[in-house]
Amino acid sequence: MKKSWAIRFWLILRSICNIWRGQVMVVVGAYWGDEGKGKVVDGIGRLYDIIVRFGGGANAGHTVFTPDGRKVVCHLIPCGVAWGKTCVIGRGVLFSLSSFLKEYLDIAMVLGGVMPVIYIDTGCTLFTPYHRLFEFWGETLRNGKIGTTGRAIGALAAFDKLRYGPKVGDLFSPLRLEERVTELYCLLLPIFEEMLERKEKGDEDFKDVVIPTPQEVVAQLLLEAQNLPKDCVIDTRSFLLKQIALGKKILLEGAQAAGLDSKWGTWPFVSAGDSVAVGASLGTGLPMYLITRIMMVGKALPSRVGSGPFPSEMWDRDLMIAFGEEHMHLFSPGRRRDGFLAGLREQINMGGNNEVHAKYFGVLGLELGASTSRVRSLGFSDLPWLRYSAEVNGATEMALTRLDMLSGIGSIKVAVSYKYNGEIFPPGQMPVSAFDLDKVEAVYEDWPCWEEDISGISKWRDLPREARAFIKRIEAAVGVPITVIGTGPGREALIRR
Ligand code: GDP
Ligand code: IMO
Ligand code: MG
Repeated sequence: MKKSWAIRFWLILRSICNIWRGQVMVVVGAYWGDEGKGKVVDGIGRLYDIIVRFGGGANAGHTVFTPDGRKVVCHLIPCGVAWGKTCVIGRGVLFSLSSFLKEYLDIAMVLGGVMPVIYIDTGCTLFTPYHRLFEFWGETLRNGKIGTTGRAIGALAAFDKLRYGPKVGDLFSPLRLEERVTELYCLLLPIFEEMLERKEKGDEDFKDVVIPTPQEVVAQLLLEAQNLPKDCVIDTRSFLLKQIALGKKILLEGAQAAGLDSKWGTWPFVSAGDSVAVGASLGTGLPMYLITRIMMVGKALPSRVGSGPFPSEMWDRDLMIAFGEEHMHLFSPGRRRDGFLAGLREQINMGGNNEVHAKYFGVLGLELGASTSRVRSLGFSDLPWLRYSAEVNGATEMALTRLDMLSGIGSIKVAVSYKYNGEIFPPGQMPVSAFDLDKVEAVYEDWPCWEEDISGISKWRDLPREARAFIKRIEAAVGVPITVIGTGPGREALIRR
């Protein structure tokens, strides 16, 4: 009897210690995606045993580099894969089997034939071509396009809520799979018929539409399922709870960001998942009290792809896209960009306008989306948005990536507040509607930057004084300590404070 009390006491004490030491941590995006979440997860991933994706789908593109400089872009698989860690795809992920299999093989090739250890939750919503057709229908019909990634994320989330469509676990019950695929097909049949009618009438938008039968969809899914790693589909919630009880450290990797969260982002110009920190609990089934460290990732210059408001945007989005498409050769690494960048940097230091800033930083940062290769529109640092993001995420700390982008610049504009209808918004407050946020005017201050190239610096004390002051001013405005700073795309280009 005494012994069992001692064991219980020991278990409780150990749980408290584990929670206190941040046994489970979540990393989420602060702006509108592409902040460098993958790089941060990779940078701190060595300290964790298991890395878990809890939301989003193949719309995400998280870039990491292996120590020998090979690039890995993860869409569904967590970035811990580059460390050879156990990876988990939680129930909150909208799962495309064909994208996963392609990514799994691509990554194994980059890792020199080593197959990653990976578990997928049996309850993940499963993609079918019907989801993609429905998304295409919705985007074609609407006036103000969302500019989705085309991965059917909205359709997957919507039909899941309507309780239509298959789950990953159905791949092992062919009859149930067929039933669920057929139900979805029947639900969408009137729309499919309309699409085919438009195709027949010669409507250009619909010329490529092909509607597979439910039997074809099921056959394809079952064929692909044979290539899944053995025994990889499990109940990941109980797996994770067991690992936590064994004292393993878990890192939960978010996709998208606060600005793209379906509730707290700039609706309707959002993705369809729960990308704020609470989504980590929903998407893994882990109780909220276990997730004691919440790191939000912001970048020195935020970006946006697709449509939607962007209060501190540098330049006109369509012009930026047109510039990028015309000068695509400048958006890949190489020396041919050097002259172009030097010229623009000089213009910036002589007081160049926003257009010059957008072109310079876009080319310098090779700002192309990791999933769709679309040109990203850039903005100035946006403190009101970061403050709001810290609040909706409950951030306990922050990572600031791409600080190296500001080297060699005399000073940079930073949005310090929002003005709406002539009045300054109180810190942390945001207009509920994206259309109102679009009317907000950002109020800027000029903050000094630094001459020295800080690329690759990994120690706080090696940063120039102005860079340290820059960080401290952001911390003060956002109210969250910046504990990780990115100084380049590589794994080692990271300062941990
Ligand atoms: P994610 O979706 O949030 O993981 O971000 P992406 O991978 O889509 O985009 C971030 C881009 O910034 C990638 O190309 C990264 O290699 C790059 N990156 C991340 N951190 C840094 C940094 O500190 N400095 C620089 N120069 N690039 C970075
Ligand atoms: P990561 O995880 C940047 C954007 C799309 C579009 C909107 C809706 O790499 O940061 P969707 O296909 O999700 O229905 O598109 O959301 N979007 C992202 N933008 N980074 C992402 O992910 C994104 N995921 C979705 O561009 O505007
Ligand atoms: Mg990305």
